[in-house]
Amino acid sequence: MTFGSQGTAHLSPRFSGDGSFSLYSVEYGEGFHCRSGALLEAQRTFVRPAQLERFCAGEELWVVDVCVGLGTNSAALLEAAAPRGLRLRWFGLEIDPAPLALALAEPSFCAQWQAQLGLDLLRQLRDTSCWRSSHGQGQLHWGDARQAIEAVLECSAGRCDLVMLDAFSPRHCPQLWSQEFLAALAALLAPRGRLLTYCSAAAPRRSLAAAGLQVAALGSVGAAAGQAWSQGTVASQALEATSRWWRPLSAMELEHLASRAGEPYRDPEGQADGATILASRQRAQALSDAEPASAWRRRWGLQGGDR
Ligand SMILES: C[S@@+](CC[C@H](N)C(=O)[O-])C[C@H]1O[C@@H](n2cnc3c(N)ncnc32)[C@H](O)[C@@H]1O
Repeated sequence: MTFGSQGTAHLSPRFSGDGSFSLYSVEYGEGFHCRSGALLEAQRTFVRPAQLERFCAGEELWVVDVCVGLGTNSAALLEAAAPRGLRLRWFGLEIDPAPLALALAEPSFCAQWQAQLGLDLLRQLRDTSCWRSSHGQGQLHWGDARQAIEAVLECSAGRCDLVMLDAFSPRHCPQLWSQEFLAALAALLAPRGRLLTYCSAAAPRRSLAAAGLQVAALGSVGAAAGQAWSQGTVASQALEATSRWWRPLSAMELEHLASRAGEPYRDPEGQADGATILASRQRAQALSDAEPASAWRRRWGLQGGDR
């Protein structure tokens, strides 16, 4: 896969709080990972809530990485799965080859990974778009995830144990948080499969629930109290109400879903650009009978922007 016309100028390197390598997207005006750390986020949002201990040695985990980027989440997952004797059947969706190539050109990024595990996975994906090893096999589908997902659905609908959704935020990349795209991701899941994301915005949560999934807030149970924001979302057809890694949505979060902030992003043809999706959502919010998000914020004594 070669770079598109934009080369790599739209990306700038940065080191996150835990010292791990990350990137900032000038195009989207957003970092690839949270400031506290790319590796930390991979563990907190994806690897730990996946609860690999649910699976037995020798089992094959079906995994879809939506927005592979540098590949941090998948490399971290593989390095947690392999010592447990788990194999991965891996699928990746990504539009831009530059993040992975830039990361693999950075020695400190390569040093984050074990040569035969994470590093081998990422180098194979960069060089051939495929991965094959004694720990599993996979294919990276380049292109707009809204179209590329069709090929993944064909072979893995209803079979996936894990979908890791790591798109830029809904405000900057609403294409990948639309009701339609989230319904497609939900269709990938096996009955006990999980979708995991760092995002705790109301609209995607409402769309995941509309797709028939139970939705809970990532973050420890102890953090459930009061008005704390969660660290993301887990969704599944079958989810224990509470675990070490998630808790039920709080009353504040449930009301958030029901407010105008929960108005879904819509993209029925899977072709609309971000500005069009945001504008049509704004129109729907203006016509909605639901409580304005500003009133919901006031009621809960919250500061800051709409989420
Ligand atoms: C937040 S970054 C992902 C970070 C990544 N998971 C990691 O661990 O490095 C978002 C990624 O989404 C990709 N992207 C943006 N729009 C996309 C689209 N329509 N289809 C597929 N990928 C897209 C960007 O190129 C970027 O790599």
